[in-house]
Amino acid sequence: MDGELLTGGGLNQVFRVGDAVRRPAGPWAPRVHELLRHLAPLGIAPVPLGLDGEHELLSYLPGDVGHVPLSDDTALVESALMLRRLHDSTLGLVDRRDGWQHPAREPVEVVLHGDFAPYNIVFTDGRPTGVFDWDSAHPGPRWWDVSWAVVQFVLALPDDRERRTRLFCEAYGCVLEDDQVIARLEDMIQTIRDHPAFVLQRAEGHEAYYVGLIRYLQAKRA
Ligand SMILES: Nc1ncnc2c1ncn2[C@@H]1O[C@H](COP(=O)(O)OP(=O)(O)OP(=O)(O)O)[C@@H](O)[C@H]1O
Ligand SMILES: [Mg+2]
Repeated sequence: MDGELLTGGGLNQVFRVGDAVRRPAGPWAPRVHELLRHLAPLGIAPVPLGLDGEHELLSYLPGDVGHVPLSDDTALVESALMLRRLHDSTLGLVDRRDGWQHPAREPVEVVLHGDFAPYNIVFTDGRPTGVFDWDSAHPGPRWWDVSWAVVQFVLALPDDRERRTRLFCEAYGCVLEDDQVIARLEDMIQTIRDHPAFVLQRAEGHEAYYVGLIRYLQAKRA
């Protein structure tokens, strides 16, 4: 395969070829490309350049890929604003109920990214400038993405969790319940247990880590 191999979560082999990336395409790729074309005017999502059944070609987003944990408040707030802008831009697509990797989740409000986290975002001078890895996109309620973002942007650090959760949610403009974060974590734990592709996550003990976060949220409430 020509091009430089980019490393990420390890689920996909992604190659950079000039100003493009070539990555494996699932059956949901046509629907995701429709979403990406719809988001193109924002200039923060990859533009679809081609699809040949097994692979997709997307525009390369310049910048530094983020890592967990992320401690900077500016990056946190700007990421929340970016998620809000992305969600609001999908309102015209919420009637596309099928064709995604995951079934629509009720109540449908927007099209979700599905894995909005520092490792799927590029930063320039500490500010988010793009979001990639849209494989998990599907229609659903805003809190689904907000909960996962709080898990990855905030709860990954033991310090300052309540203040930084508030910061993220105020920037996004929503009220988040601990039960929603718990529901999102329980879904991830189930995925780690069941999904054939999550071998590495099982081996690295991610399940115990997410169970620990649920315990933290329950203890806080008690
Ligand atoms: N459009 C893009 N622009 C720039 N870099 C990209 C783009 N898509 C992917 N990458 C790079 O390739 C790496 C892997 O990409 P991606 O997140 O799509 O796959 P993955 O991390 O293996 O999958 P997953 O996150 O689902 O485990 C990223 O960390 C990033 O460095
Ligand atoms: Mg990824």
